[in-house]
Amino acid sequence: MTARGKPLLRALQGEAVRPIPYWLMRQAGRYLPEYRALRQRAGSFLDLCYTPALAAEATLQPIERFGMDGAILFSDILLVPQALGQKLWFEPNGGPKLSALRNDSDVEALNFAKLDETLAPVYAAIRTIVPRLPKKTTLLGFAGAPWTVATYMIEGGSSRDFSEILAWVARRDGRFDEIIAKLVEATARHLAAEIAAGVEAVQLFDTWAGIVPEGEFERLVIKPTRQIVERLKRDHPDVPVIGFPRGIGPRYRRYFAETGIDALSIDAETSLDEARALQSLGAVQGNLDPKTLVAGGKVLDVAVHRILDCLGSGPFVFNLGHGVVPETPPDHVARLGELIRAHG
Ligand code: CP3
Repeated sequence: MTARGKPLLRALQGEAVRPIPYWLMRQAGRYLPEYRALRQRAGSFLDLCYTPALAAEATLQPIERFGMDGAILFSDILLVPQALGQKLWFEPNGGPKLSALRNDSDVEALNFAKLDETLAPVYAAIRTIVPRLPKKTTLLGFAGAPWTVATYMIEGGSSRDFSEILAWVARRDGRFDEIIAKLVEATARHLAAEIAAGVEAVQLFDTWAGIVPEGEFERLVIKPTRQIVERLKRDHPDVPVIGFPRGIGPRYRRYFAETGIDALSIDAETSLDEARALQSLGAVQGNLDPKTLVAGGKVLDVAVHRILDCLGSGPFVFNLGHGVVPETPPDHVARLGELIRAHG
């Protein structure tokens, strides 16, 4: 099959493809026993990310078990701040931690000297995956969008209330624009290098776009995303870019129209009528609630059919509204795949 013939790529480029292609955010992860074994073998999550043979293995595990149309590179959005010089670690059984940025010199210290060298194992993982990929499977790369990555850099990890970053935003602090500018540059370079290594489409994860105050949405979400997309399109016009600005409600249309992305990944809170209307702008991806995948049974069947019936006649990629959660039974993921493949 030529690259052009891959179902997921065709859908991302705006074609209504049958059967509907699918992949799942966090399809490689702790819900899979083979992932838990691999992570144990690696020693830590970061060792798994930075060891190309193991990251390749993690990427391919869900494909081997379920046969999704897309394989997403196994990595993390927080490797970019680490490559810019910020300290990153994962507490055992906890979330990510970073040495929080606090002052001008912390921001100035972020630099590009070791960017390529630090991220080289990620590109090596991609080159390991490419020859092992089934012919019809699309390899997806990704990065975090600047706003979302900045929340972790300033909060020093996951946050409940984002008080620190929202205070920086409210002060309209010039340092904040400098962080975003550095992240635009690093992210564009990182995604271009992923593409050079062999990924065929990329997704920008803006998990926390929904908390951006309305008056700052252009400056913090739209503009940095558009700058990254423009950079990628200049050198790689045919590589689709998927945007995932989670939780932005009525701002989806504007984000889709103004950032230059090819496909929009929507959360589970978005109504299917709204999702269908968004298909006039390009491919839509989503939006099964991850909790419904945990529930399984009749609830899962009904929800999946509703989505397929409503969005399946336009350019569509089936996915979740957010990532697979660790308590998801793998059998439910297998059932989901059967439902999608059987859809008329
Ligand atoms: O399968 C895939 O989707 C590819 C790999 C992938 C991971 N993280 C692996 C991972 C992707 C695309 C990400 C993106 C990511 N990382 C996001 C954006 C998407 C989202 O989930 O909102 C964010 C915010 C991060 C930062 C991050 N990494 C957090 C907050 C955590 C802790 C939460 C958790 O689930 O443990 C991680 C760790 C992480 N990244 C894990 C995985 C499989 C779990 C690590 C483990 O314990 O093995």
